Amino acid sequence: MKYLIGGGSVIAAFIIGYLIFIYSGIYNISAMVPHDKLTLWMMNTVRDNSIMHNANNDLKAPDLSDSSLVKMGFIHYREMCVGCHGAPGIEQSEIAKGLYPHPPLLSRAAKDWTPQQLFWITKNGLKMTGMPAFGPTHSDEMIWAIVAFTKKLPTLTKKQYQTLDNETKGESDE
Ligand code: HEC
Repeated sequence: MKYLIGGGSVIAAFIIGYLIFIYSGIYNISAMVPHDKLTLWMMNTVRDNSIMHNANNDLKAPDLSDSSLVKMGFIHYREMCVGCHGAPGIEQSEIAKGLYPHPPLLSRAAKDWTPQQLFWITKNGLKMTGMPAFGPTHSDEMIWAIVAFTKKLPTLTKKQYQTLDNETKGESDE
């Protein structure tokens, strides 16, 4: 019985402490103050494992090397992603520079994910990061096109990016 009361008091103290923390405003919500190491580890681990758990690697992808699909993906990337994720020869926008967590350069980070994982991330977005879900506004076919381009991104030179840009001048994703 004594242990039960002791345990109960510890839990109650924990809940009260937690509520004081939430309501007091002492937590600094500023995007300029980085998370402590434990929170950062927790958030990154939850994110990575959630993507790996939820993305279906058996999902059938179209032919991602199809150059017309890559080109369609490029037009979408230029319109919606490049500001946050940059590209060879293209700097990230001021918005991206102020975001926390900071959007990674996809010309590096895209290598870490399978096409199905990239599809899932682009379709669903990532909670509490500023990474939008494109599922509500884009068909699966369009999202696969974006994946086809994103997968190609790490191999592209500045010149090849510019060539794609010139070839699709005036074309928008509508
Ligand atoms: C408003 C800014 C913003 C836009 C626009 C945006 N993203 Fe993101 N994206 C982010 C942020 C921030 C993260 C980082 C999340 C994190 O670190 O947990 C991210 C993460 C990602 C990741 C995971 C990368 C990794 O290794 O962590 C992929 C893939 C991605 N975005 C693809 C895209 C694609 C494709 C588009 C365009 C269709 C896009 N994003 C548009 C902000 C953006």
